[in-house]
Amino acid sequence: METVLSGIRPTGNLHLGNYFGAVTNFVKMQHEFNCFFFIADLHSLTTHPTPQDLHGNVKKVLAEYLAAGIDPEIATLYVQSDVREIAELYLLMNMNAYIGELQRTTTFKEKIRTQPDNVNAGLLTYPVLMAADIIIHKANKVPVGKDQEQNLEMARKFANRFNVLYNIDCFPMPEPFNFGKALVKIPGLDGTGKMGKSDGNGIYLYEEPEAIRKKVMRAVTDTGPTEKNSKLTEPVKNLFAIMDVVSTHDTIKHFKEKYKDCTIRYGDLKKQLAEDIIKFTTPIRERIKEIESDEVYLSKVVKMGAEKAIASASKTLKEVKEIIGIKAF
Ligand code: TYM
Repeated sequence: METVLSGIRPTGNLHLGNYFGAVTNFVKMQHEFNCFFFIADLHSLTTHPTPQDLHGNVKKVLAEYLAAGIDPEIATLYVQSDVREIAELYLLMNMNAYIGELQRTTTFKEKIRTQPDNVNAGLLTYPVLMAADIIIHKANKVPVGKDQEQNLEMARKFANRFNVLYNIDCFPMPEPFNFGKALVKIPGLDGTGKMGKSDGNGIYLYEEPEAIRKKVMRAVTDTGPTEKNSKLTEPVKNLFAIMDVVSTHDTIKHFKEKYKDCTIRYGDLKKQLAEDIIKFTTPIRERIKEIESDEVYLSKVVKMGAEKAIASASKTLKEVKEIIGIKAF
């Protein structure tokens, strides 16, 4: 059976981008594949969170995963730092990762630009840790959003390099996955770019209806089409892209036609979009509230996940060490 793996950094609550980029695909796959989903707390250390924030965010994200539909009895749901084997494989993989290729990754170059005072080695080797996450369970499919495409490319490169170096078929090539469709990029509400945690342009799964309405009504648009059949501008295209994942086909068609014949009123479109988001997030929000207060359940889930993940990871690590020549006397 093929193995599916995905993860998320615990840097805040889950937004619609996380949900539609990674979580929903994973939830749909958990019954048919051998599935691993984890909270990448080690990855989040590159931003130096306070101990309270780190622990709080791990708990938050865990509750949100569960509320979004990950079944811990079926999938293996775990916290990255509970599985020390990942850190050991990361160390081994670092020996075959080259500084030049790491420096050339887009995300690293972006970090140099956006946070010049904190360009740490963890950021440089971020794709190596991510590769270790993936190959430690020999994952075949990795449901992620479009922004992770390059990291997945690096993971394939490192996995393949190991196979070639030791002339052995140890790791399968992990593919980014979205049911045969292109990977998604859910845009933000500020007119440009993707929905993100840090940008303040996102809608979160836990958010109350009134907050969602306010955010959507404030979303950036343009002054409206003046010529029939004109092309969508970026901010309006973005609103339609969010509609694509939460609204019905008829609703989308209705507003697209109104745009085409220049009778669209963005206020109406936003009202509809807000209600469709609310309809979609309400059951998840209610489950988040239930689950996050149940500390006993959360610690049971984490313990069970760690046991299952360690069993799988230690098997691969043992094999890798033997291949490399780290053997017992
Ligand atoms: P992170 O925590 O930034 O995001 C988690 C997942 O959400 C997706 N995502 C989006 N998808 C579509 N549109 C958006 N606007 C959007 N924003 C976020 C991301 O693509 C991702 O799938 N490096 C990873 C975490 C990670 C990981 C892994 C993922 C660590 N090891 C191994 C897969 C496999 C990250 O920072 O994701």
